[in-house]
Amino acid sequence: MKRVCVLPGDGIGPEVVECAVMVLEAATDQLELVHADIGQSAIGRGGSSLPDETLDLMMTCDSSLFGAVTTPPGEARPSPVLKFRRELGLYANLRPVRSLIEVPYRKPIDVVIVRENTEGLYTQDEIVDGEGVTTLRRVSRRACERIVRFAIDYARKAGRERICCVHKSNVLRSSDGLFLSVFGELMASSGAGLEPQEQLVDSAAMHLVTEPERFDVIVTLNLYGDILSDVAAGVAGGLGFAPSGNIGDEHSVFEPAHGSAPDIAGKGVANPTATTLAGAMMLRHIGMSGEAEAIENAVGEVYRAGARTRDVGGPLGSKQFTDLVVRRLEGEG
Ligand code: NAI
Ligand code: MG
Repeated sequence: MKRVCVLPGDGIGPEVVECAVMVLEAATDQLELVHADIGQSAIGRGGSSLPDETLDLMMTCDSSLFGAVTTPPGEARPSPVLKFRRELGLYANLRPVRSLIEVPYRKPIDVVIVRENTEGLYTQDEIVDGEGVTTLRRVSRRACERIVRFAIDYARKAGRERICCVHKSNVLRSSDGLFLSVFGELMASSGAGLEPQEQLVDSAAMHLVTEPERFDVIVTLNLYGDILSDVAAGVAGGLGFAPSGNIGDEHSVFEPAHGSAPDIAGKGVANPTATTLAGAMMLRHIGMSGEAEAIENAVGEVYRAGARTRDVGGPLGSKQFTDLVVRRLEGEG
């Protein structure tokens, strides 16, 4: 048995997590699911946005499945997402985006973005003075080496062929320059037979849209990875298609790449695919790769059979779509 901490969160978080849990339960009876509060819903119950009990549970479980949280305008409290990434040592953010449907005017995409998850602008070091704000952006050799090694290791295990370092070293010469040179060093010495590529982040964003086949695995810094993964999701049909995993040496948290989508929350129309596929990534990470593949296959078959949620012009609500995936898994679809 594996123990998984389930963190529904805010907005569409609880809706998509409920769907993903239905799929996980159809795929395996080897999970013990424990629920915990995070985000505005945790604050509403009198706690912080990441109560200590939640963090403790996340640390003692084999992994966690998280929906999303809402950051209200003017929020002063620390982000619960950044906090659990830091506290659990989740230094890599793995974001695969693969086309499951045909999208008008878009080419198929199959890219894995490996995003540095601890530094860059996400340390929230903002120094306010009388005239403005200075934001500190940290890029350390250690974090660069760790994320490039992670990308190489991932690419090798996943049978990928190329890794593209995406950076902005023409402007940020020392910081992004360090990242690019670490990438060059480690790719040269890895012996993994992977082809190194490198590209500036602005043109990489354009090429993700116009020529996504250029990319196989992308390794990049925190903010670039955050933005590029939404671009890639857009190419595949929208944010409902991008799962992600926050991975460290001891802990992991899987979540959709999207946020809490307040504009569609409570309507039962969110696309649960990203969270469902995040659940599959989680199973693979905790050693249940057969079950992970079964979920991925079931989702793929449901799309090939023509099922579509509202975000991609279809009639199905979140639960109706999930029922189809569950029926496939149970061999009735
Ligand atoms: P968002 O990702 O929540 O939504 C962007 C757009 O994509 C919206 O139009 C939304 O309806 C659509 N969308 C997102 N997920 C979808 C799904 N599964 N199915 C169908 N449509 C979907 O980003 P936004 O609007 O910039 O942020 C909303 C809130 O989410 C903010 O409070 C933000 O701070 C929070 N957020 C939380 C994250 C997390 O918890 N990890 C990550 C990103 C944003
Ligand atoms: Mg994002």
